[in-house]
Amino acid sequence: MMTHNVSLRPYNTFGVEAVAAAFLEVTSVGELRIALRQAKPPVLVLGGGSNVLFTRDWPGTVVRNAIRGIEVVRRFPHRVWVRAGGGEAWHELVMWAVRQGLGGLENLSLIPGSVGAAPVQNIGAYGAELQEVFVSLEAVELATGRLRRFSRRECQFGYRDSLFKQREKGRWCITAVTLSLTTERHRLNTSYSDVARMLADMGIAQPTPADISEAVVRIRRAKLPDPAHLGNCGSFFKNPEVNLQVWENIRRHHSNPPHYLLPNGRIKVPAGWLIEQCGWKGRRIGNVGCYEKQALVLVNHGGATGQEAYALAQAIAASVADRFGIVLEPEVNVL
Ligand code: EPU
Repeated sequence: MMTHNVSLRPYNTFGVEAVAAAFLEVTSVGELRIALRQAKPPVLVLGGGSNVLFTRDWPGTVVRNAIRGIEVVRRFPHRVWVRAGGGEAWHELVMWAVRQGLGGLENLSLIPGSVGAAPVQNIGAYGAELQEVFVSLEAVELATGRLRRFSRRECQFGYRDSLFKQREKGRWCITAVTLSLTTERHRLNTSYSDVARMLADMGIAQPTPADISEAVVRIRRAKLPDPAHLGNCGSFFKNPEVNLQVWENIRRHHSNPPHYLLPNGRIKVPAGWLIEQCGWKGRRIGNVGCYEKQALVLVNHGGATGQEAYALAQAIAASVADRFGIVLEPEVNVL
């Protein structure tokens, strides 16, 4: 049922106030299509609300995707295809897979948000990315109600990026995602040093997907704020890629800065480190702040507005640009 002038505060993990002129929740493709016919534009599809920052009210209709369901749709000798509704919580899907002994999602444990939002930014953590297990997705075009399938290639995945953040931004509601998960001969990824260290602390030498999931959950709990207690939307910026010249300049002034060498010869520098170097880590300005344990995460200390958070993000980006000549790009969708 369509309701009007609805507070979006319970629907965004940063916990800011914004009002939707119209709001409704859909639990099936059929309901979604009917909703789209009635909806006052612009239409915004919201999943878990963990990667958006509202800086103003929404003048049109917010559709909350609550399309559920998780099922095995195909079986192969060492793997299965699992199809999940776009409105499922991502971590619930990970937990379901781990309980079934399936491999492929364990490194992506405890990422907030919904299944339908996962492909939009090609979620990733601890050396894994969604695209590695992705088969296809189904999506409804907001303007027409047409249901379409997108293959992995068509999704044009990149680092925290896809077709749905680029050319097709804001035009589709992702109603289901199909993933290929291993039933045996798992391809476990423990290369990320935090994960390797945690498994060693846990006394595990031959990890299962469930062990890795547990390690990742512990790391995230220790480093990242729980939105239920401290509003946030995960990493606020992407980690920038810089050229050799910029990198050499950083290296001249800092001993042993963290970095990853990319296959294209460029260097990825953790934005959290850049922000910390500029003195922002743990700082609070009004109701917003830069998280004390991870400078890449902006937090709502209570009662923050989206504009306040965005102003802080801009101030942080300005000081990183000033000091390092690096432009930070938001990872979060600022609306
Ligand atoms: N670092 C600092 N200070 C900080 C934070 C980080 O110096 O305050 C340095 C440390 O050297 C650390 C390095 O940055 O070793 C990397 O930090 P971390 O392992 O915490 O990862 P990240 O690069 O900051 C990325 C993802 C996270 C993901 C982690 C783990 C992006 C934008 N973020 O963060 O994803 O959980 O790696 O794989 O790529 C998200 O997208 O919302 C998110 C939380």
